[in-house]
Amino acid sequence: MSRIDLVIKNATVVTSTEVFRATIGVESGRIFSIGTEVTVPRGEREINASGLIVLPGIIDEHVHFREPGMEYKEDFRTGSMAAAAGGVTTVLDMPNTLPPTVDGASFDLKRQRASEKSLVDFGLYGGYKRKDTKSLEELMARGSIGLKLYMSETTGISEFPEDWEVIEAMRRCSQLGLRVGVHAEDGKMILALREALKAVGRRDPLAHLECRPVEAEVFAVSKVLTAAWLTGVRIHIFHVTSDRCVELVESFRSLGVEVSLETCPHYLLQDGEEIMTKLGNVAKVNPPIRRRADSERLWDALKGGKIDAIGSDHAPHLPEEKIVEDVWSAASGFPGVETMLPLMLDQVNKGKISLNEVVRLMSENPARIWGLYPRKGSLNIGSDADMTIVDIRLVRRISADGLHSKSKVTPFDGLTVKGWPVYAVVRGEIVLEGGEVLEGARRGELVVPMRLGGGGSGRIGYPSGTE
Ligand code: NCD
Ligand code: ZN
Ligand code: ZN
Repeated sequence: MSRIDLVIKNATVVTSTEVFRATIGVESGRIFSIGTEVTVPRGEREINASGLIVLPGIIDEHVHFREPGMEYKEDFRTGSMAAAAGGVTTVLDMPNTLPPTVDGASFDLKRQRASEKSLVDFGLYGGYKRKDTKSLEELMARGSIGLKLYMSETTGISEFPEDWEVIEAMRRCSQLGLRVGVHAEDGKMILALREALKAVGRRDPLAHLECRPVEAEVFAVSKVLTAAWLTGVRIHIFHVTSDRCVELVESFRSLGVEVSLETCPHYLLQDGEEIMTKLGNVAKVNPPIRRRADSERLWDALKGGKIDAIGSDHAPHLPEEKIVEDVWSAASGFPGVETMLPLMLDQVNKGKISLNEVVRLMSENPARIWGLYPRKGSLNIGSDADMTIVDIRLVRRISADGLHSKSKVTPFDGLTVKGWPVYAVVRGEIVLEGGEVLEGARRGELVVPMRLGGGGSGRIGYPSGTE
């Protein structure tokens, strides 16, 4: 063989379990070889990764890219540019768009828009349509990554299912083999607390913390765990903020419930009361950020291997939707896809977490949970050539104005962070080079979970037995 498409030379490769020196060859979008220099042919393009670290491409399993319907907040172009800038090579997008992604037609529409615009690969969650389980089959047939269930109001979600509907939806997903991801906060409890707070005239940012207390989260977690236990469905709980949820999950794991957990950088790194006192509704997010003691216990759970994934919950809104007096009319959420990896690399430099753990939580496990492994989340020969190349010593400031997202607000504005991505490669195509997003890069594609075995985009399909 003369030349292959791309060669990454002098790389220090870090996987979830190993650290080794290698030269990586890429051909036709896949890992062709990984080994010593002499065994790899020359490349049409070459990256000298001397002094840099090569990770399997980072997957952000929790983004809201807002397209279709709310492109003024974000679209797949700007969202995926933010992803590339943050070293993220695959995103999994949430269904709370307009129209919501709840059936075949809305899935097709989002898929088409994303295929035209996204720089990175994308998977699409389906949402739940009340009293309609037929649509689930349409979503399933198209390769939806999983079903997203909201147990409370949140952006774009004004209705949430009754407990019985949760059980019904989970039973159907169990039959179909679809994993269910949950926003676990108890909707009714929150509504009652909000009315009580409004009745006494509260409209300050800290009222948000009282309106959505940890009890509402733990209570919803207990319900969805019970429903999963009853129906046998595999579930994933998004944005867990408290170790109390982790304890509950552990006990249901011992009952045989297959459940995985996500947390987000803001729950690990911020104190809710401090940051909302300082920044007001900029830091308003569902669920709210708890106290420092909670995040310390969350770190312990993370270090103990009890939390499976870190996602950003990239939830962009315009500054004017965030920076308002009245807490009840302020939008919840802020962008995060661009800052998630740098924030965690900074924690690596601070000795809080190892780079192997970062790979496990932000690449390998999300791929395993959502049926994308080993095509994503690994650097095995034959895997998609998705790589995130980082300079672990690079120091830069996070600046809200500098974000690629349309949403120029972040509770991490002004923070100096050590450790940044400098290259991102999506199926062999460079989308981030020397820290700059390459806007002309080729388009991302839909990823579909392994359960379909060759369905969806038709691109999946390891011959059986290669896993
Ligand atoms: C998210 C959004 O804006 O889409 N907001 C948030 O506060 N996290 C929705 C969500 O994940 O609940
Ligand atoms: Zn949510
Ligand atoms: Zn979210």
